[in-house]
Amino acid sequence: MNVRTIAVPEPKQYQGKPENQVVGRAKPKKPKKPKTGGKSAGALRRTAEGLDSRRVAIKALERITGAGSFANLVLGPLLDRSSLEGRDRALVTEMVYGTTRMQRALDHLIDQFLLDEVDHHTRSALRLGTYQIHFMNVPTFAAVDATVGASKKRVRGLVNAVLRKVADAPHDWPSDAVRLSYPDWIVDRLSADLGRTAALEALEAMNEAAITTTRDDGYVQDPASQEVVALLEAQPGELILDLCAAPGGKATGLAASGAFVVAGDLHAKRARLVRRNATSTGSVVAVLAADARSFPVREDCADAVLLDAPCSGLGSLRRRADARWRIDPDAPVRLGAIQRELLLAAAALVKPGGRLMYSVCTLTTAETTDVIKALDWPASAPVVRLPSTDSDGMWSQMFTRPQAGQRAV
Ligand SMILES: C[S@@+](CC[C@H](N)C(=O)[O-])C[C@H]1O[C@@H](n2cnc3c(N)ncnc32)[C@H](O)[C@@H]1O
Repeated sequence: MNVRTIAVPEPKQYQGKPENQVVGRAKPKKPKKPKTGGKSAGALRRTAEGLDSRRVAIKALERITGAGSFANLVLGPLLDRSSLEGRDRALVTEMVYGTTRMQRALDHLIDQFLLDEVDHHTRSALRLGTYQIHFMNVPTFAAVDATVGASKKRVRGLVNAVLRKVADAPHDWPSDAVRLSYPDWIVDRLSADLGRTAALEALEAMNEAAITTTRDDGYVQDPASQEVVALLEAQPGELILDLCAAPGGKATGLAASGAFVVAGDLHAKRARLVRRNATSTGSVVAVLAADARSFPVREDCADAVLLDAPCSGLGSLRRRADARWRIDPDAPVRLGAIQRELLLAAAALVKPGGRLMYSVCTLTTAETTDVIKALDWPASAPVVRLPSTDSDGMWSQMFTRPQAGQRAV
C-alpha cells in the first residue's frame, strides 16, 4: 500500500492540481474543528443516504478536478439523478463546494501520507474524507466509514489508511495561502493591494458559503449589489443605461424606481437571462444584445449609466467554489485594460450633468483605482466593500458629467 510520509518542498504556485509532494510533520497538535451549521453525527453515519451522499459528492469532485467541469453545473444534474432529498442534498452541496474551496489545504494534509500520485477518484475521496474530518463537525469514524464505503473497492484500503492518519495530522500550514486554500498569486495580489491584514480577513470570509439575500420581488441578490443600485439613486422617468447587465440583478433593481432602464449585454444568451429575470420579477426593462463599446443609442442621452464591468471576481469567490483555481493571474491587468475602454465608451453616453456609476466585484488596484484614472469627471468617494460573511466584496464609484462649459476637476 502506498502510505508513507515523504518530505519534498511545497510547489511555488499552486494551481489546484493534485500533486505528490509534501512537507514533514511539525509539532503534533490536534486541529480545531470549525462548526458545520448544526449537522449531527447521526445524519452523517453509514446509512444508505450517508453512502449515497458521499458517492454523489465523490463523482462531482472527480468531474470538477478530472474533467475541469464547473462545480455549479456538475452538481445539480448529479443530485437530480440521485434519490437524495432536502437535507442530504444540502449536505452534498456543502461537502462538494467546501472540498473544492479547501482543496489546497486538504492536499497539504493528505500528501504527507502519499508516496505516489493517485487517480482523480482516489484524490476526490481523500479530499472529501479529510474535509469532513477537519472542516466539518463529522466524527472521524463516521467520516472515514462513509467515505471508504463510497469509494471504489480497489482503493478502499488506501483511502481508509490515509484518512485514519490524516485524522491525527497537525495543522502545520507552511503559508497563509495553504492554510486558507488559495493560489499564491491571489494572496499576494490582494495583500499588495489591500494590505496583508485586510486581505487575509477577506480571503477567510470568502471560504464561507454565501448567505442568500432575497429582495422584495423574490430576486436573490447580494447586499453589495443592492448597495450599488441604491447609490445610483434612480428617479422615476429617468433614462438609465445598464451596459453590462446580465443576469439582470442591477437592471431589475433600477427599474423598481420607475426609471426607464435599457439593459444590454455582449452575449445574446446572457441578454436573454436579463429578459427572463425582468419577466419573473415583473420589471419593465428594455433588453438588447450589444457591445458596450458601441452601444446603439446616441451620445449624451442618458440621465445615468451603470457600468458594472466584467472583472476578475476576486471579491465574490465565495459564490463560485472553483473560481479561485480557474482565474488566471494576468486577469486583473488584462481586464483593467478592457474596463478602461468600457468606462470611456460609457462616459460618452451620459448627458451633461448626468451620472456614471462604475462598479466591479473585485478589489484589485488594476481593476479599480487604475481604471478610473481614465476619467477626469468630478466623483464621489469610492465605496469599497470588503468581502465579509454577510456580503461580497464590491468597489464602486459615481461620477458626474460636468455641464457644458464647466471644467472637469
Ligand atoms: C459583472 S457581470 C454584470 C452583472 C450584472 N450587472 C448584474 O448585476 O446582474 C458583467 C457582464 O458584462 C458582460 N460583458 C462583458 N463584456 C462586455 C461588453 N464589451 N459589452 C457588454 N457587456 C459585456 C458579461 O457578459 C457579463 O454578463
